Amino acid sequence: MSSPLKSVFKKEHSDEISNHSVNPVFSEVVSAFMSRRRFLQMGMVAGAAVSFPYLVKPENAFAAKANPSALSKAVSLGFTSIPVSTADTVTVPEGYIARPFYRWGDAVGIKGNLPEFKFDASNTTDEQAAQAGMHHDGMAWFSLPQGKENPAHGLLALNHEYIDNGMLFKDGTANWDLDKARKGQNAMGISVIEVKKDNVGWQVVRPSSFARRITVNTPMQLSGPARHQALMKTAADPQGEVVLGTMQNCANGKTPWGTYLTCEENWSDIFVKKAPRNVLEKRYGISDSDESYRWNEVDERFSVDKTPNEPNRFGWVVEIDPYDPTSTPRKHTALGRFKHEGAAVTLAGDNRVVVYMGDDQKFEYIYKFISENKYDPGDRKANMQLLESGTLYVARFNDDGSGDWLPLIFGENGLDQSKGFDNQGDLLIKTRLAADTVGATKMDRPEWIAVDTHAKGSVYCTLTNNSDRGKEGKAPVDAANPRANNQFGHIMHWREERADPASAKFTWNILVLAGRTDSDDPKAKGSMQGAEFGSPDGLSFDHRGVLWIQTDVSSSTINKKAYEGMGNNQMIATLPGTNEYRRFLTGPRGCEITGIAFTPDNRTLFINIQHPGEGGDDITDPSNPRAISNWPDSRSDGRPRSSTVVITKSNGGIIGT
Ligand code: FEO
Ligand code: CA
Ligand code: CA
Repeated sequence: MSSPLKSVFKKEHSDEISNHSVNPVFSEVVSAFMSRRRFLQMGMVAGAAVSFPYLVKPENAFAAKANPSALSKAVSLGFTSIPVSTADTVTVPEGYIARPFYRWGDAVGIKGNLPEFKFDASNTTDEQAAQAGMHHDGMAWFSLPQGKENPAHGLLALNHEYIDNGMLFKDGTANWDLDKARKGQNAMGISVIEVKKDNVGWQVVRPSSFARRITVNTPMQLSGPARHQALMKTAADPQGEVVLGTMQNCANGKTPWGTYLTCEENWSDIFVKKAPRNVLEKRYGISDSDESYRWNEVDERFSVDKTPNEPNRFGWVVEIDPYDPTSTPRKHTALGRFKHEGAAVTLAGDNRVVVYMGDDQKFEYIYKFISENKYDPGDRKANMQLLESGTLYVARFNDDGSGDWLPLIFGENGLDQSKGFDNQGDLLIKTRLAADTVGATKMDRPEWIAVDTHAKGSVYCTLTNNSDRGKEGKAPVDAANPRANNQFGHIMHWREERADPASAKFTWNILVLAGRTDSDDPKAKGSMQGAEFGSPDGLSFDHRGVLWIQTDVSSSTINKKAYEGMGNNQMIATLPGTNEYRRFLTGPRGCEITGIAFTPDNRTLFINIQHPGEGGDDITDPSNPRAISNWPDSRSDGRPRSSTVVITKSNGGIIGT
């Protein structure tokens, strides 16, 4: 049993590896490239001067192709970079205003059900279902009315990634029972809120006919090839059609037809199996101990011993129509099952839908999905089916700067019964095993992916860190993951062949190696000019082609160890190709910065402050919730609260100028 103090923290995923496959990632690489790779490895080990051949330099960066866009492409950053900070507040450059806007426990806005937050954490389970959840993460803007580009009135859909039982209950996990597990389940999921700018500023509209909370118990339909599969059936759902809830929703996507994509990331933390785990359960990191959320103790859905197929019903991308609060969310199995970070959506040259997705764990992969059918701007109903059928691919980054999208299709490339796949639906439930089989490239924890709307076919991905890269018995460095003990991470760039997102081939390079600008150690040295940072996570372009980077240095490392002096987590801006990085925002203590949503006029930016006050390791002492942070309320009887923050310029100008 866990101690009563045991809380629920996001595990230190940097310490977890589920991929023990021996993909022949480089076995086919010609020997000419091997010598260079060896040079890189040896250079690292010896600490000698090392070059990174695929690191973008300003003079050889891809030139932006001016695509039609509502706002013209930015040519420079206009704000003054701010210093690092350890203050317990949100800091933005002079001329900008940042205001906490939608905090954990604030009423979501459901008519007749507007419970107030109780600062002693005594809100009931039912009240929590009508309030903002904890740990805000990915987020998207949807203008009102649907189909219009309104900069002053819209909806925000946002994820509540995980929970902290030390903050959620005044007695932590003492007196543990099903009601406490249910309150936690109601503090996860998604919020849809209506927001409006009036003479005073931005307000959450309460009540609102759009206001909605989706939780771990909200019914959702399964779509695509894995629907009705044997591995998807449970006693409660013998047809394999309807799942209760979504959880551990990390980053997100937004479709051109105005729906929200929410991505199930660390869902395996919830499940516990005491009996020996099978290959599939191990490959997805199902726990064999009860040291995690403890839902399995009181809700047998989360005990794999009792409900063996329930984990297979998580690890998907979920589509939600924010404009219809009565709509049933759908889990799209065609997009594959893994620890989904986000889902970056774009259109191919022929209007098929392309979705880029990272699997965030050490040595996992980058994927893309291409829909079978084409987007029709005039037929929203038909567009709603687009993510139900298509082809999933996984990326191989070759050592010579080229890349291939390898299809994961049953019956092709050895993906058949001899490798343990029964059909396409079965394969998708086992996506990671299929990707192992075709020889995808093991990456340094793929996080967010951003598509450059001002340079068609140009895509970026944060690889947050991987301290096991190059360790004995682990995958060695390679050209795309070039630093052993990669504590600071990097940002990858690729360009699809013919600038078409549907291409099977691409070329790639590295936009930036994160780290310290003043370091002599090539493993720690950042390649940027200007503001240094590490552990990039959130990544998004605004409407002017500015690339925004948000950091998630783990709570046990913030401003300590290799990160000493680097301050709290932060948000950085750059224009790809310039190599200039400016610090735009620093967060309060113990938080991660995440969630990026711009209004269509680029004059309002919403971001999320996640888990202020998180102290590292895995315990928050419920008797001392303010030990690290008291943001945003600064009350002597309060507790830190994750919050959406609204950022504007005091002169009403464009963000980034
Ligand atoms: Fe939820 Fe990979 O961050
Ligand atoms: Ca993240
Ligand atoms: Ca992260």
